[in-house]
Amino acid sequence: MEKKLDKLPIHIAFIMDGNGRWATKRGLPRKMGHRKGAEVLEKIVEHCFSLGIKYVSCFAFSTENWKRPKEEIDYIFGLLREYIKKQNQKGQQQQEQEIKSKNIKIRTMGDLSMMPKDLEQEILKAEERTKDCDAFVLNIAMNYGGRDDIVHAFNTLIKQGKTIASEQDISNALYSGGLPDPDFIIRTAGDVRLSNFMLYQSAYSELYFTKTYWPDFTAKHLNKALKSYAKRDRKFGQLK
Ligand code: IPE
Ligand code: IPE
Ligand code: MG
Repeated sequence: MEKKLDKLPIHIAFIMDGNGRWATKRGLPRKMGHRKGAEVLEKIVEHCFSLGIKYVSCFAFSTENWKRPKEEIDYIFGLLREYIKKQNQKGQQQQEQEIKSKNIKIRTMGDLSMMPKDLEQEILKAEERTKDCDAFVLNIAMNYGGRDDIVHAFNTLIKQGKTIASEQDISNALYSGGLPDPDFIIRTAGDVRLSNFMLYQSAYSELYFTKTYWPDFTAKHLNKALKSYAKRDRKFGQLK
């Protein structure tokens, strides 16, 4: 059993970085790092669920990652397709066993229209299938950029003829609309930057950077990060 961690984040977000370096260090092709990274995501999501964290966001593919070789991009999309398909299959079995309430709601952030059509279809199927699941939300950022998110939100508001009366109006129109802002953002692999991830939503997120590459990231590493989170004094501009 997990040791109880006090002051857990409600929403945790992962910038899953270092897949390529993990593979290169082992003399493997970069894609093997992505494969291992996808397995790690599955384990970490399960761990978050078992801890009682309600929302997990993860950065799978950025609007800037299109600058990579096509072969690498296609491989990443292949892994995403596999991952979502597996969730859809698992979900179907679970629904048959009538434990739908324990099921994971799958959401995505980003412009899906640029993804391969069959992947887009699989994602839409997953989102539709899990729309009533409320035990846990997995929010996958693909073809996602924080600036693109803001542009998209403004265009949505303009199309709806809405005026922006408050910060919340923008929050609601973002891809993550309806989710609380991430309390805690973890970036693996040593770089200390956001790389265009959830820029609007991260205004008061606690940030955590670890040198560990994503494919090496385990439940233990997550527990260590969560201990750091629990010690932090979130002030939101107030005096305490
Ligand atoms: C993160 O790992 C995964 C994606 C960006 C898709 P990287 O592929 O960026 O790995 P490094 O940073 O090159 O090691
Ligand atoms: C951020 O990692 C994007 C994802 C984890 C999907 P990158 O590897 O693309 O970021 P940079 O290029 O190092 O800033
Ligand atoms: Mg990287």
